[in-house]
Amino acid sequence: MAFSKNNLPTHIAIIMDGNGRWATRRGLPRNFGHKAGINALERTVLACLKYNIKFCTFFAFSTENWKRSNEEINGIFDLIRSYIQREDNIFVKNQIKLESIGNLQPFPEDLKQALSDTKEKTKNFDKLQVTLALNYGGRDDIVRAVNSLIKQGNNIITEEKLLSELDTKNMPQPDFILRTSGEMRLSNFMLFQMAYSELYFPKVLWPDFNEKHLKKAIKIYQKRNRRFGGLS
Ligand code: IPE
Ligand code: IPE
Ligand code: MG
Repeated sequence: MAFSKNNLPTHIAIIMDGNGRWATRRGLPRNFGHKAGINALERTVLACLKYNIKFCTFFAFSTENWKRSNEEINGIFDLIRSYIQREDNIFVKNQIKLESIGNLQPFPEDLKQALSDTKEKTKNFDKLQVTLALNYGGRDDIVRAVNSLIKQGNNIITEEKLLSELDTKNMPQPDFILRTSGEMRLSNFMLFQMAYSELYFPKVLWPDFNEKHLKKAIKIYQKRNRRFGGLS
């Protein structure tokens, strides 16, 4: 059964989890799971385009993921860089705007360059915005925003001001957050922004996620009754 074309989540945010377990179950090194995870990301981006989702944010590397081995970390960076720097990358090819949230400063130069090149090439596209959360932490996002407001001379902070300084300032707050692999935690993702997000924790490991899973997720979202503290 198809889902309704009204009442689509404007912004879906995905905590892509389970790459390591997917690889380990196959007797493969963890980075094979991350490679397969990139394919799942591509499938999901194309499915978002097909289903007319306007914003999709993917949690790709957290402020806590620096605790992993250098081999795994560099493997993840290489995969992301080579994926976005291809001339015919899906963003340019499908007119998808690429953005990022998180503090990019500690990343290798080649990754930063690839990101800024593709962001620049796609900045005028408006069908779908894909945002990669890279070295992103919800607490870090809030602290950077507050410090920036202090630097601008504010001594009183309102919710509106804070929202206007967060990395997500140019997008709507996530309507729907899903985390794959069955883990039921948020691991420092979009803490301020998720005040009224609907949450969903499908068991599928991220590398196995596909259009069918996204479709099911949207149907589940559409059955939720969002009250925002009011009555309905
Ligand atoms: C998610 O998969 C990708 C990143 C955090 C970069 P994991 O690597 O966390 O996979 P599991 O949780 O170990 O299975
Ligand atoms: C969350 O997954 C971060 C990303 C998906 C990038 P983790 O696998 O790092 O989270 P924990 O350690 O299980 O909480
Ligand atoms: Mg994990």
